[in-house]
Amino acid sequence: MTDSAKFDTLLVESRVFKPIKEFSKGAHIKSMAAYRKMYNESVRAPAKFWGKVANEFHWFKKWKKVLDWKEPHAKWFVGGTTNISYNCLDRHLTTWRKNKAALVWEGEPGDSRTLTYQELHREVCKFANAMKNVGIKKGDRVIIYMPQTPEAAIAMLACARIGAPHSVVFAGFSANSLKDRILDTEATAVLTADGGFRRGNIVPLKASADEAIAECPSVKSVIVLRRTNNEITMKEGRDHWWHVLMQTASADCPAAKLGSEHPLYILYTSGTTGKPKGIVHTTGGYMCGTYLTSKYVFDLKDEDTYWCTADIGWVTGHSYIIYGPMLNGATSVMYEGAPNHPGPGRFWEIVEKYKINIFYTAPTAIRAFMKWGDEHPNSCDLSSLRLLGTVGEPINPEAWMWYRNVIGKKKCPIVDTWWQTETGTIMITPLPGATPTKPGTATLPFFGVVPDVVTPDGESVGPEGGGLLVVRKPWPAMLRTIWGDDKRYRKQYWSDIKGCYFTGDGARKDKDGYVWIMGRVDDVINIAGHRLGTMEVESALVAHPDVAEAACVGIPHEIKGECIAAFVTMKGENRKNVALEKELGQWVVKEIGAIARPDYMRFSAALPKTRSGKIMRRLLRDIASGSDQVGDTTTLEDVSVLQSLQQYQDE
Ligand code: PRX
Repeated sequence: MTDSAKFDTLLVESRVFKPIKEFSKGAHIKSMAAYRKMYNESVRAPAKFWGKVANEFHWFKKWKKVLDWKEPHAKWFVGGTTNISYNCLDRHLTTWRKNKAALVWEGEPGDSRTLTYQELHREVCKFANAMKNVGIKKGDRVIIYMPQTPEAAIAMLACARIGAPHSVVFAGFSANSLKDRILDTEATAVLTADGGFRRGNIVPLKASADEAIAECPSVKSVIVLRRTNNEITMKEGRDHWWHVLMQTASADCPAAKLGSEHPLYILYTSGTTGKPKGIVHTTGGYMCGTYLTSKYVFDLKDEDTYWCTADIGWVTGHSYIIYGPMLNGATSVMYEGAPNHPGPGRFWEIVEKYKINIFYTAPTAIRAFMKWGDEHPNSCDLSSLRLLGTVGEPINPEAWMWYRNVIGKKKCPIVDTWWQTETGTIMITPLPGATPTKPGTATLPFFGVVPDVVTPDGESVGPEGGGLLVVRKPWPAMLRTIWGDDKRYRKQYWSDIKGCYFTGDGARKDKDGYVWIMGRVDDVINIAGHRLGTMEVESALVAHPDVAEAACVGIPHEIKGECIAAFVTMKGENRKNVALEKELGQWVVKEIGAIARPDYMRFSAALPKTRSGKIMRRLLRDIASGSDQVGDTTTLEDVSVLQSLQQYQDE
């Protein structure tokens, strides 16, 4: 653990916004008293609380025990069999929701499609059969490397239907990152597309998939969606066109009866060391968690048109575009492309076009909108909005206020939701009809969640104290393990603070018990709401034949929250070199993806290290942030390294 585990009170924010009366009147949870009552019940008798939630779903066989907890392994709804795809789709077909829009989709070029629950069900059943017809079966891992199209949702729900755990790989990742994930999951199939649209360009997904799969012997079949019509090559016997398979696939596909702990998906996220971790989520608990959080945090009602702007490549897309909303029978909007294509008003045009009521996005997007100018949202009719949400990183109070005033016109509550890939569901959040909000805090725990802020010894800190954010009790949607590496799971999450799940975040609790997230305490950088381990970028850099050593740190960035500064020691000359900077930047993009491209790069004959050889990232952070004053250098082995790095700026 680093010295930044000690968090001071950096922000003093005294504004409090009480829930809006009109909103509270119609909300699922109308007051703090109602929240407290239900929260206390959920924590005092979790089995009763979650058992009641699970009873709202269809189970082929009812569970025997709600929770079996042997730290650090939880089993929820032990002995029960169910299917999340069934509960997202089939369950609604015998109700009036049969012809309700399940998915409203907008493509980047402006094309659009709406699928009712019945239509989505039919497509999912057909595609599930199409997968079976090429040999994909229960337990097989299936990689989804697709653009944000309805077919990506269909693919996920079809995998869930047959019990083949999916692993969605963000379409912005490179062939190399895709390859690592295929190898780690030993997937037998890859679902991809000829390409995807991004800012008017075509992202050549099939070409990247081909490059990756060439080194992945486990892959037996590839299914390719036609989206962009660009030239691609199809490999005889391995590759199949989506639309061709669908022509002959039957629409009759009963959902597989899966154990409650059957793995639903594996999603990779960055850690401090080594390769990304395959976070494993299972069926029954995740189903209850995503359902309940969607219902109460977004105050979802049948009349709502709900839009989460995330990408399905991240956990937010899994839990809050697909599973959570559909378990509620909601109408979920999905958009394929960039927020500023063809112009900076695109999101607001979508809000106006579909009359969005609930809008969930990331602070990085909000900061970009602020920069692009108020005229874009102001020229659209946003009057349909009734609730706003954010996720992914701490939101600075200035962005919070802008969101409230310019987008919400002071009439929409804001839910700042804290959670992680690992937690599966929202953990700390206001409930919009009940919780008084303060700009910059995710406020209080959701039902069943017992967070705490502790010292490295696990002692709770007092009011206003800073420390490490932990969760003291298991919750239904928690990760179950790291795919193929349970030892790492134990070490990463359950060894730092005894008896607790350690989140990796630093936090502070204020006098009202509100949790203020202060950022990561490890070497993980949060770029535009997405986690990247400094190690990953460093490994990519040193994989370049001319690089001897590299160290990366996260530094503040106006829009992205944080960005990467890379310090590189070349095998040859170490002078400022713009061409080399560009080359190494492109190298990282090829190794990982554009998200990992360093914003700053400095070449240095050596890196500042302690006598024991540990790179002093704190000093690098100070230098990269342009601070004249660097912190304590007493443990630095060679002070001249620091001087040469500081002089670099003036060259
Ligand atoms: O540091 C926290 C930050 O994002 C991390 C989780 O990242 P990831 O697994 O990629 O999931 C992002 C979407 C759920 C957390 O450890 N984070 C997430 N939401 C917030 C946040 N920090 C502050 N406030 C939030 N609302």
